[in-house]
Amino acid sequence: MTTARWDIEAVRAAFPALAIADNGKSRVYLDAPGGSQVPARVVERMSEVMLRSCANEGGAFRTSHDSDRIMMGAHAAAAAFLGAQPDEVVFGQNSTSLIFHFSRMVARDWRPGDEIVLTRMDHDGNVGPWIIAAEERGVTIRWLDFDPETFEYRYDMLDELVGPRTRLIACNHASNIFGTVNDVARIVAAGKAVGAVTMVDAVQSAPHLPIDVAAMGCDLLAGSAYKFFGPHAGVMFVAATLRDRLAPLKVRPASFDMPWRHTPGTPSFEAQAGTQAAIEHIAWLGEHCGGTGAEATLRQRIVAGLEAATAYEASLMDRFLAGIMSIPGLALYGIVGRNRLDARVPTFSFRLAKRSPQEIAAALAEENIFGWAGDFYAHEASGRLGLREKGGVARLGLSHYTTADEVDQVVEAVARLAN
Ligand SMILES: Cc1ncc(COP(=O)(O)O)c(C=O)c1O
Repeated sequence: MTTARWDIEAVRAAFPALAIADNGKSRVYLDAPGGSQVPARVVERMSEVMLRSCANEGGAFRTSHDSDRIMMGAHAAAAAFLGAQPDEVVFGQNSTSLIFHFSRMVARDWRPGDEIVLTRMDHDGNVGPWIIAAEERGVTIRWLDFDPETFEYRYDMLDELVGPRTRLIACNHASNIFGTVNDVARIVAAGKAVGAVTMVDAVQSAPHLPIDVAAMGCDLLAGSAYKFFGPHAGVMFVAATLRDRLAPLKVRPASFDMPWRHTPGTPSFEAQAGTQAAIEHIAWLGEHCGGTGAEATLRQRIVAGLEAATAYEASLMDRFLAGIMSIPGLALYGIVGRNRLDARVPTFSFRLAKRSPQEIAAALAEENIFGWAGDFYAHEASGRLGLREKGGVARLGLSHYTTADEVDQVVEAVARLAN
């Protein structure tokens, strides 16, 4: 439970970029769903790795031992972050590449007539790779839809979609366009009941909510470190049972042991070190704002940090929704109920009657407010809502480093654009 107060000044002081102003105008970073800002400790750790211990792993000398240690530390930290074991963690370039990589292995024994379930809500990073694998194997794709009124999955379809031929279900924990937090445990359970591989995309939830792969029960789960305050890198959880069953896509001399079993080639040691530092930032939030002591385990401090961030972000969401929903001509694509804040992350997509999303993003940029316009590769969702041809939506993402004043500032700016 959160007992300490959210120390927004200390949180912001951890991120040098938040202090930058251009021509006297502070930057308002509401672009976090595309990529978050980075605490100094992440960059310091990465530059230390590159300046003082830059070597490949597995050698007899000091800097190579450093690389071995960096990998061990990063895998342990990512495991604590996800509720997994260190040998169930694979680092890669980003989530999409990791999903492509695992899709090749998972699909190897699919047969024509088999089926997979994909969703109309996911980012294409958790759709496209599976479509390609299905096409190669003659496998039928069945689609889990969402309700365009509630922006939630049509859980009522699961019984009809999932059957004895289902080989895979891929879904997302939080939508990158609607912000909906989905009941992935329910979807995973439906897949598990028929022996399907279950894949969860946690790219948008990981910066906001504690991830617990054991509670979800999934086989695979992907996250991108640059969305949770780290460097450009991806991280995949692969459950031990699936990990050992998959015939690894590895070159012959590479070890069958983890992480090499599922890590082709030389990884970015500096990105792994930076990812560990980003996770340590979240653990620091647990100590500083979440009421845990430094003696608590890394996992306990991470969970406390994210729970405290969730509570703070809920107050920002409430403020944002109260302001934005009174703007005439504004249509929000996502859950609006201020009593349902636990069903969403602070990612808000909307359109204005009189301005295109691109005009909104450009006008906000003029005020040094950074936001997005487009469909953000939520390809099925934007197609399903007929938004793809219309420039998509404008998207603003709040973060644990956003202030209430910034929320007010952007609400006022959007209100001016609505006229
Ligand atoms: C929900 C979701 N999944 C997957 C991705 C793809 O991530 P990456 O670019 O790290 O592969 C994104 C990126 O925005 C995302 O938001």
